[in-house]
Amino acid sequence: MIEENEMDFENRIVSPEYNYRDEETELSLRPKTLDDYIGQEKAKDNLRIYIKAALQRHESLDHVLLYGPPGLGKTTLSGIIAHEMGVNLRVTSGPAIEKQGDLVAILTSLNEGDVLFIDEIHRLSRNIEEILYPAMEDFSLDIILGKGPSARSIRLDVPHFTLVGATTRSGQLTAPLRDRFGVLLRLELYSPEELGRIIMRSAGILQIEIDEEGALEIASRSRGTPRIANRLLKRVRDIAQVEFDGVITLEVAQKALARFEIDELGLDDFDRRMLTTIIQTYNGGPVGLETLAAAVGEEAVTIEDVYEPYLMQIGFLARTPRGRCVTHLAYEHLGLSNNPTQPTLFD
Ligand code: ADE
Repeated sequence: MIEENEMDFENRIVSPEYNYRDEETELSLRPKTLDDYIGQEKAKDNLRIYIKAALQRHESLDHVLLYGPPGLGKTTLSGIIAHEMGVNLRVTSGPAIEKQGDLVAILTSLNEGDVLFIDEIHRLSRNIEEILYPAMEDFSLDIILGKGPSARSIRLDVPHFTLVGATTRSGQLTAPLRDRFGVLLRLELYSPEELGRIIMRSAGILQIEIDEEGALEIASRSRGTPRIANRLLKRVRDIAQVEFDGVITLEVAQKALARFEIDELGLDDFDRRMLTTIIQTYNGGPVGLETLAAAVGEEAVTIEDVYEPYLMQIGFLARTPRGRCVTHLAYEHLGLSNNPTQPTLFD
């Protein structure tokens, strides 16, 4: 049962998490400048100022922490920061840095001013974080040579660099690491209008014919997430090409998305099952996260990071100190009664 659900999750078309099939599209669609980057106005306004100030002073940009749900463009923004600063970008991730030596090798091979992007930075191990502290603060490394009584420590300078860390969970970062970032930027889910503009831009690059109503229809079912919007655009294009005349209109978008079983708000089978479970098994909540995770056969962190942000944004789910609660909006959307004395779907 659990295995089956995990497989569903990997294949889920509306998962905001990165999938290897996204790679080709993401690379070609990634905006390179702040002006080309749609949405996240607050983060962009701040970055514009900090980048300009650092360039005027001929300094590297202060370290930047990007946090927020997956699929919102953290990697893209790190590329833009490097481009706007006129430096190289090095990309790695918390789980990929296994040994202290891995990080030392990366840091010592950077050029002056480079941007080092560490995705999922909350997954760095503590002993690697310790290498990072003096590197971030003084651009130096304390390396221990040898073992036992003859061990000695040497200090090594590294080029001035900008660390851009990305995480879905800023709360899981250790305080000493978080404190070393000068710029903290929270990325928000995108509005349907912003996603509509992203879809029109992507369609232009991929030479997909689409009208504005078609784009807005895909946008409003993309859960506030550009990665999902671009993925749906490609899948809807396939249907438009094979079953219609190739142009994505409102009608084509609606028919294609209905076929993927993605409803008008972007909810898929898993979302509906999770909400229905809370309603029918736990009387609408509150239900604890771990209990809910076991009931739907998904990991608690995945529910928290991947499913819940959008359900909370649209007002379907509330996190309370006693657990998760479904709101009346979700009952209405699912066509279920929120009066416990009335029959529900499975009565
Ligand atoms: N593609 C993915 N995210 C984007 C964004 N925020 N702006 C423009 N194109 C994008």
